[in-house]
Parts: sequence; C-alpha cells; structure tokens
Amino acid sequence: MSNKLVVIWGSPSSGKTVTTLKLAQALAAKSKDVLAIFSDPLCPSIPFLVPQFANKQRSLGELLSLPTLAQEDLFRYSLSIKGTPHLGLLGYKKRDHVFTYANYERERVVDMLTLARHTADVVLVDCVSYVSANLLSTVAMELADTVFRFHTCNLKSIMFYASNLPLLSDTRFQHAAQVPILSNLRPDQDSRTYGQVVGGIQFHLPHVQTLEQQTLEACLLDPLPSGKEAVAYQQGLAQMMQLIVPEECPPSAPVRTSTSVGQWLKKRLWKRRGERK
Ligand SMILES: Nc1ncnc2c1ncn2[C@@H]1O[C@H](COP(=O)(O)OP(=O)(O)O)[C@@H](O)[C@H]1O
Ligand SMILES: [Mg+2]
Repeated sequence: MSNKLVVIWGSPSSGKTVTTLKLAQALAAKSKDVLAIFSDPLCPSIPFLVPQFANKQRSLGELLSLPTLAQEDLFRYSLSIKGTPHLGLLGYKKRDHVFTYANYERERVVDMLTLARHTADVVLVDCVSYVSANLLSTVAMELADTVFRFHTCNLKSIMFYASNLPLLSDTRFQHAAQVPILSNLRPDQDSRTYGQVVGGIQFHLPHVQTLEQQTLEACLLDPLPSGKEAVAYQQGLAQMMQLIVPEECPPSAPVRTSTSVGQWLKKRLWKRRGERK
C-alpha cells in the first residue's frame, strides 16, 4: 500500500489540530489529494476550524456507524473546501457528543483507514491526546506510516509523556516511526533543556502570533504572513512534508491501462472536490 497514513499525536493543546489543518493545506497546495481526519468527539474540530463550511458537514461518527462502508461514503462524508480542490476534511460535527452514535468496532476503523489510503494520496489523522480512550486514534497509531509526536516546552508536557508514553511501549505502536516535534515554541522557552530531558526532538514549530489570531478569528484557511516566526513555522511544515512525500520520490503518473473503478471514481470525485459551491 503506497499512499501515506500520517498521525499527529501529542500532549494536550500542543497544536495538533491547527497544524493538521495547516499541513493538509500545504500538501493540497502541492496537488496531493489529502484527507484530514479529526478524531476528537469531545470537542468537534471542524466547527471551530472552518465554521464557514460547517453547516454542510456530515459527521465522522455517523460514517463510523454506517452498516457498510464504501469508498463513495468517504467522499459523501468528507467536507470539501471551496477554492481548495485537493482537500477533504472529516470529523465530528457541531453538537455531536460521545453518545450521539453507536459504538464502532476496531474492524470498522481498519476498513475506514484502508479505504482512506486508497482514496487520498495522504491521510492525516489528528489524534486525541488520551489515545487509549479513542479507538480511532489507537488504531490509526498502530497503522500509521509516520507519527508526528507533538511536545510543548513545559513541565506539563514532560508529565504527560511520563504518564502516556509507557502506554505506547507495545511494538504495535511502532516507536521507531514516531517523529518528536517541539510545537508552539515561544522565544523565551528553554527548548535545549526540554530536548535534553525528553530526548529525540527532531525539529521545532515556533509560536506564531498570527496563527493564534487565526484560530480566535476562525480564519485558519488564510495564508500566514511573511514574518520571521511564520517563515520558521512554514519551514517546520516543509520538514514534515519532506518526511511524508520526500522530494526525491515524485508521485508516479497514473497507469491508465489498469485504472480500476475505484481509482476512476477517486480521480473524478477529487477533481470535483472544492470546485462546487
Ligand atoms: N505554532 C503555534 N503558534 C501559535 N499558536 C498556536 C500554535 N500551535 C497551536 N497554537 C494555538 O494553541 C491552541 C491549541 O491548539 P490546538 O491545535 O487546538 O491544540 P491540540 O489539538 O493539540 O489540543 C490554539 O489556540 C492554537 O491556535
Ligand atoms: Mg485537538
């Protein structure tokens, strides 16, 4: 299976959700078909990330509870963003809560993520911090090609990992595939000491005032301005993208002769995505 399944997981409020959206946007701008799945049922993400599109949204909870699941369902349930043809968003909708939908089984998550891989070039899963309480997050971490592990530069994050990393020590969680990132890093924070305590931090995503402002004003789809922090943040995104779709491995051209119905449907639907109102 060549298409990428990428998980963003980490400590609470470390920037997992906003960076998932920014990363998805950046990949879509490179003409990658991206499906970003927001797994949090406690605080549905799409209604605060892109409230202007949320009234057209269908719920991830409903999708996970369907009696059967097919590739078309992923398209029906993922939200297209006008002006961004390669991007689909899937998540819980406004007023959903943990009891809104029937419980789903592990097999349903495996099926959904497998279909998602066949549907998009890159599938991003924004996981909840309390990963063992959310089956979608747990299974996504097991199946992921890459897990970006978000840290914040404070004692709370150190304590979070002290409690939660041992829960992921089982080999099925592929420790080696995890890429630790120090996120939302402010200039006055001591990243060196944090890195020494935690170990393995690969790169930083700086605090960007405009990003926080965009979250507050619900305009996260807007581009970031060209300030120093924003440029460094974009460089961090570029490093993440390099690990997901390395520049030296350009996407191969589709093989026309062996196009399956699923691939045909995929191309047709992705092309329409974002073009319609
Ligand atoms: N790099 C950053 N620069 C500025 N603010 C950030 C950055 N990353 C996250 N934030 C802010 O931190 C808050 C929590 O982000 P969020 O993505 O919801 O965290 P999580 O999903 O990890 O709980 C939001 O207000 C967001 O705007
Ligand atoms: Mg979140």
